[in-house]
Amino acid sequence: MKIFLTGINGQVGHELYERLKDTHEIIAPTREQLDLTNLSKVTDYLAQTSPQLIINAAAFTAVDKAETEIEQAFKLNTHLPETLARFAGAHGIRLVHFSTDYVYPGDGQQPRDEKAITNPLSVYGKSKLAGDIAVQKQCPNAVIFRTAWVYSYRGKNFLNTMLKLAQERETLSIVNDQVGSPTSAEVIADYVLRALQHEDLKGVYHLVTTGYASWHEFANEIFTQAKQNGLPLAVETVNGIPTSDYPTPATRPLNSRLSTAKLEQKLGMALPSWQQALTDTMAKVKG
Ligand SMILES: NC(=O)c1ccc[n+]([C@@H]2O[C@H](COP(=O)([O-])OP(=O)(O)OC[C@H]3O[C@@H](n4cnc5c(N)ncnc54)[C@H](OP(=O)(O)O)[C@@H]3O)[C@@H](O)[C@H]2O)c1
Repeated sequence: MKIFLTGINGQVGHELYERLKDTHEIIAPTREQLDLTNLSKVTDYLAQTSPQLIINAAAFTAVDKAETEIEQAFKLNTHLPETLARFAGAHGIRLVHFSTDYVYPGDGQQPRDEKAITNPLSVYGKSKLAGDIAVQKQCPNAVIFRTAWVYSYRGKNFLNTMLKLAQERETLSIVNDQVGSPTSAEVIADYVLRALQHEDLKGVYHLVTTGYASWHEFANEIFTQAKQNGLPLAVETVNGIPTSDYPTPATRPLNSRLSTAKLEQKLGMALPSWQQALTDTMAKVKG
């Protein structure tokens, strides 16, 4: 199958590329070959290459930067998916798109399902929600996977930041009142491919690991597993702090618990726990 895949240097895009490249024809232009904010070029590119499936793993994911780079965030997170969806809808091909827990307001303590009310707290969340709405309007058959707290053994993310800090410092202070499901890019790619075997799959699905943790708990588990793997760490004390002690330009949801029941029911299988996903990713981390 001919697949147009965006964002292959990103966390999720890379894992998808690795799993698809040997069995499919992947069209994945580099940023230099195709700036994804140039929407008329994107449309021309699609028309010239005629893909049978579009997977959009590109996004403006710098949550704090989005508060000031509003136009760029909306270009990548709203207008790009809208353009891809228009093409997919018009040509009757499938579109896979990714969204985020940041579309939800994050109040309460309970996990949200896909029907929960959206109300983003940040520019990033607003731009992603507008993208979801546009995608569903232009391409009702599109699949949107809402994921959260994404990390990978490669690139800049919470896992690699924690490992670096833990090698440099004896004491760390980590936010303990934001709760979610740390989800590896590998789990996302594995389950997207499983889900795509279902030809009738469409609409919004939560795709995160099972179980919940605060960033503080996630950091502690990272350090425990890193030590078990023989990584040399300097860190001795990991303090839990409230979000109010770690102000950031973008407001983050406190409750990012997402129910994955809809996807698990569709696939007839459970998603892995966040601890197991971390173990699998940690095996690829080099000291
Ligand atoms: N990261 C998270 O914690 C998180 C949480 C919830 C949902 N999500 C969603 O999950 C999806 C995948 O996220 P991710 O973490 O894998 O993203 P990522 O690692 O930040 O990768 C984003 C990709 O988009 C590409 N890109 C951005 N602007 C571009 C442009 N103008 N032209 C061409 N390419 C451009 C980047 O290219 P370069 O490599 O060249 O910069 C990069 O490859 C996104 O839809 C994101 O919103 C992520």
